[in-house]
Amino acid sequence: MRILLLGKNGQVGWELQRALAPLGTVTALDRHSTEFCGDLTKPEELVQTIRALKPDVIVNAAAYTAVDKAESEPMLARQINADTLAVLATEANKLGAWLVHYSTDYVFNGEGDTPWREDDITAPLNVYGSTKLAGENIIAHNCKRHLIFRTSWVYAARGNNFAKTMLRLAKEREELGVINDQIGAPTGADLIADCTAHAIRTVMGVSSLAGSQQTPSLAGIYHLAASGETTWLAYAEQVFAHARAQGLELKLSTLNAIATADYATPAQRPLNSRLNTKKLSTAFGLTLPPWQQGVTRMLTEILEKN
Ligand SMILES: NC(=O)c1ccc[n+]([C@@H]2O[C@H](COP(=O)([O-])OP(=O)(O)OC[C@H]3O[C@@H](n4cnc5c(N)ncnc54)[C@H](OP(=O)(O)O)[C@@H]3O)[C@@H](O)[C@H]2O)c1
Repeated sequence: MRILLLGKNGQVGWELQRALAPLGTVTALDRHSTEFCGDLTKPEELVQTIRALKPDVIVNAAAYTAVDKAESEPMLARQINADTLAVLATEANKLGAWLVHYSTDYVFNGEGDTPWREDDITAPLNVYGSTKLAGENIIAHNCKRHLIFRTSWVYAARGNNFAKTMLRLAKEREELGVINDQIGAPTGADLIADCTAHAIRTVMGVSSLAGSQQTPSLAGIYHLAASGETTWLAYAEQVFAHARAQGLELKLSTLNAIATADYATPAQRPLNSRLNTKKLSTAFGLTLPPWQQGVTRMLTEILEKN
C-alpha cells in the first residue's frame, strides 16, 4: 500500500508516522519538504506530488490550527483548511484512493449537554470551525472514498500541550484560574493515529485479502475521541494530582474556576465539546478508552523527562 502523509510533524502527524509505518510505504511530508511538495498553500505543486506518488491512501494531518489567530487570518485559514482540500480530494478521487482527514467538534455551536452525533446540525462559532466545516464539505463532495475523523481536545507528549503549560504555571505561581464550563474529552494523538491505521486497514484490507472491491460504504464522517468527559479544570486537577504523586513540587495552592464568558479570547469556543463515538466503534469494531488512561500515560512520559 502506498500512503502519502501530509503534516507529518504535527501532533497527530507525528504519531501517524509511527502508526502507518506497518501498513506500507509511507511518504511523509511537511510544508518544508523539498523533493515533494507538502505545503497546503501550494495547490498546483501538491497536484504534481500526488500524480508522481500515485498513493492508495492520502492522510492529511496538516491544518491551520491556531484557533484565535484564525480570527485575524481568515483567508489563510480557509485556504489551508478548506480550499486546497479540493485539490487533494479531486486527485484522490481520480486515483480511486482513500482520503483520510481530520476535523473538529468546533463545527458545532456547543449548545446543550448531549454528545454530538455525526448528523447533528453544524453551526460553528468561530473562523477555525467554519473553515474546518467547509473542508469537510469539500472532501465529501469531491472524493468518494473519504474518512473524516472529527476529534476534540488533542494532546501529545511531544511539543507543547495543556498539561505541560499547567505544570509550568503551577511551579511558578501560587494561584491559577482554569476554565470550568467547557466539557469534552482530552484525546491523545497516539489514539487518533492508531484508530486511523485500523480504519485504513479495514477499508483497504477487505479488498487486498479477498480480491474484492474496497468498501466505500464505510466512507463518511466519524467522531473519534476518548471516552468519558471532563472540564479543563478537572483535567488540570488530574495533572497536578499525578505530578504530586510522582514527587514533583508545585507552588500552586489555589485553583480557581473560570467561566468561558469571563475569559476573553478572540475566538468564541463551544461549551459542549462532547462527541458521540458510537458510529466509529460500530463500523470499525473499536473501543475508545477512557480519557484518563491516555492522559496518565502522557503525564508519565513527560514527567520522566523532567
Ligand atoms: N489540536 C486540537 O485540539 C484539535 C482538536 C480537534 C481537531 N483537530 C484537528 O486534528 C488535526 C491534527 O491536529 P494537530 O493537533 O495534530 O495539529 P498541529 O499539531 O497544529 O499540526 C498541524 C500541522 O499542520 C502543519 N501546517 C500548517 N500549515 C501548513 C501548510 N500550509 N502546509 C502544510 N502543513 C501545514 C503544521 O506545520 P507547522 O508546525 O510548520 O505550522 C503542523 O505540523 C487537524 O485537522 C486539526 O484541525 C485538532
